[in-house]
This record gives sequence, C-alpha cells and structure tokens, in this order.
Amino acid sequence: MADLTKDHSLDHLASHPSSVQRVARALSSLNLNSLRVLLRNGPSAALSFVSHSYHLYSGFGLPHLWQRLPWRNDLKIPSRKIDELFPGMDCTRSPELLFPFPRNLGVLPQELIVLTKVVDHLKAKRVVEFGTAEGRTALNIALHLPPGGEIITLDLPPVPGQNEVGFFYWDQPAKTRIKQIFASVDSWDYRPYRASAELVFCDACDRMPGLAAEAYQAFSVVKPGGVILRHDYSTAEGPTRFWEWLARELPVFQIEGTVMLCLRVDSEEVYKKTQALLEHPLLKNSIHIAGASRGPGG
Ligand SMILES: C[S@@+](CC[C@H](N)C(=O)[O-])C[C@H]1O[C@@H](n2cnc3c(N)ncnc32)[C@H](O)[C@@H]1O
Repeated sequence: MADLTKDHSLDHLASHPSSVQRVARALSSLNLNSLRVLLRNGPSAALSFVSHSYHLYSGFGLPHLWQRLPWRNDLKIPSRKIDELFPGMDCTRSPELLFPFPRNLGVLPQELIVLTKVVDHLKAKRVVEFGTAEGRTALNIALHLPPGGEIITLDLPPVPGQNEVGFFYWDQPAKTRIKQIFASVDSWDYRPYRASAELVFCDACDRMPGLAAEAYQAFSVVKPGGVILRHDYSTAEGPTRFWEWLARELPVFQIEGTVMLCLRVDSEEVYKKTQALLEHPLLKNSIHIAGASRGPGG
C-alpha cells in the first residue's frame, strides 16, 4: 500500500468547523459590499452574503460551474470526459428523467444522465447506493435496470415528521426494483452482497469516519469490472479530501461537467488495491457490523 499510512491529512475531517473557526471565516470575508447589504437588506441577507463570499474563495459549497475558479488550485483529481472514461458509451442522446431538478447542491440533471448512462452501459443487474434521501437517484437508476435487476439503497432510518426517505419512488412502478435498507453505512452488513454490484454510488456521508465506512462498503460490494461513483467532489471538503487521499492509490477521475468522481475497477490490479484497502486501519476501524469479524470477505 503506497503512502496512505503515514499522514494525518484527514484528521480535520472528523468534525465540523468550531464556532471560533466560523467566526474567523466570516470576519475574513467581510468587505464594504457586506456592509452595504447589511444596511439595505438586513442581517440575514448580510450573513448569507458573507457565507457565500467565504464559499467563493474556499471553493466548497459552490456548484460545479464555479469549481475551477482561477484562484482555486487545490483540486488534485484530474477530470476526464465521460466518453473517455467509458469508451463506446452512447452519448448522442439523453434518457428520460423523473424529478430532474435538484435541491441545493443535490445531484444535477446531467449527473442523473451520467448515472443512468453508466447503468445502461454496464447493463448493471445490481446497483448499491449509499444515501437515498428523497429517492431521485434511486428511482432514475431503477428505471434503467434490465429485467431482474435491483438497486439496493441505504439511508438512516427516517425520523417521523422530519423526513420521508425515498418518497419520490413510493408511487412509481419501478419501486419493485428498489430495495430500501434503513441502516448506517458503518453498521450495514454487506456480506450478502459481497463483490456483486456492477455499480456503487456513494452519496451519504460528508465527514470522517463516515466517508471511510462508505468506501469500505463500496470496496466490499463492488464486483471486479464494476464502477464506483462518488458525488460532491469539489463542492464539499470531506468527500473532496478523502477521495484525493484514496486517489493517491487508485485511478480516480472527476467526470467533466459534474462533481462526480469515477473509479473503474476494471483490472485485476485495481481490484486488488481496493481489497487491500479494506485492511487499512482508517477503513477497517470505521466499520462495526454486529457479529462480523473484520477483514476482506467479513
Ligand atoms: C446527499 S443525500 C443523498 C441524495 C440522493 N442520492 C439523491 O440525490 O437523490 C445524503 C443522504 O445520506 C444519508 N446519510 C447520512 N449519513 C448516513 C449514514 N451514516 N448512513 C446512511 N445514510 C446516511 C442522509 O440521511 C441523506 O438522506
């Protein structure tokens, strides 16, 4: 395993910024325009202005069009066009999408297209998704599965009155292909699905150790020849830094025009590297499955 063992570069991803750090960031983003907004539009508008000014300079929390701004040179993963990553993919037309419009920083319409195109291209019979939320991605993936195909989608148990996990697919015929699991990524028992998924879509956690647990589960269920996609590269610090860390060891690319990362597990060498990473303490110690001894294969 290359140099993934020796550094503490991910330690700061274990918690959100403290109040002191937030105040320092807000102060660093103050300027005359923020004062003008405060006087004209009030404190809430000024707070929003300052917070977006901070995002503008740090880069995180901005949509993809803004991600490679000239002063931002801290993105380490190279980008590739979708048809370079998937030679032979039919990119001449887009599929029909359901509920295409995202909430803030959610999966964009072109990212839904990428997801469904990859499902088609791989003729995926099993897809595993971490992070169901409203079920937009699960539903659109399900619509592209071949007969007998299934998507297993995982989210935390819903909190009554607060969220309704998967509601976009509840009344859809494609729901018969969607297997909803309520569990945390760090405790889900992947063993019945070991090395069986053509596609894994990671979109659940944004801090450590959840990011490591999600990667552990993804490497456990992806089958040789499969693909792992990760959302939120460049728009959220946690996934960005964690996947840059993984990319020191693995051939990860950003899909151009999206904030999605793509890892094709399409050679024995890459598959072996993913399986070796299951033994890395950062990944291994992030998982707590009842009744399982740790290690590749469970
Ligand atoms: C960004 S949303 C997923 C969006 C969804 N893929 C879509 O675009 O339709 C992230 C989801 O991950 C879930 N989540 C967060 N932490 C989790 C964990 N530890 N285990 C499982 N799910 C988690 C959240 O409840 C949330 O619904």
